[in-house]
Amino acid sequence: MDSAHKVGNGCNAIPQARSGTGPARRHLLQAGAIAMAGLQPGNARAGSSDQDRMMRPRPGDLLVHAGDDRPCVAIDAAEILPGDAPVIAWAMDPETKLVRDGSRLNQIVLLRLDPATMEPDTMARSAGGLVAYSAICTHAQCTVSGWIQDRQVLHCPCHQSEYDPRNGAGVVAGPAPRPLAALPLKIAGGRPEVAEGFIGKVGMSQQNM
Ligand code: FES
Repeated sequence: MDSAHKVGNGCNAIPQARSGTGPARRHLLQAGAIAMAGLQPGNARAGSSDQDRMMRPRPGDLLVHAGDDRPCVAIDAAEILPGDAPVIAWAMDPETKLVRDGSRLNQIVLLRLDPATMEPDTMARSAGGLVAYSAICTHAQCTVSGWIQDRQVLHCPCHQSEYDPRNGAGVVAGPAPRPLAALPLKIAGGRPEVAEGFIGKVGMSQQNM
């Protein structure tokens, strides 16, 4: 069990990354700060188990927006547009509708890229241009909630690490020691679906539930 468990609050825990412009065109969101500050234990849905909520994303899981006021509706592939800032998401069991928001280490960053710009390994893990990674920075586990539009890199607001989503979320700036863990996707029924669990270490931890 990781040290940052039980922080989710259904689909309302972590704000969704949003596009826009700002200083240095960085979209610094409050998600990481909120998450690092520690949230109250989640409101587990009826019939959900804490253990299942804490599980890392599983093959077949769908994705839902984190921090969205809407019900936990699975993300449709068509709503993630090229050039949009990434969204922060959770995995959801498609049968039970249980959202795996019991650990902030389960946060996922999802975005659409031009396939022509992807390195081969990234392409192999993508689906229809969509790529997903752990949203947990490998430096000190802040949420990688920022997006630098002009360079198309993911940005961690805590100590300015940057990751290239076109190249396996490799580190291109800052103190992060490793790439973000990758989450292979496939498209099923028009929706992105987890194809296999995280590849690589999530955050600073070697633990993957
Ligand atoms: S926690 Fe992300 S750069 Fe330090």
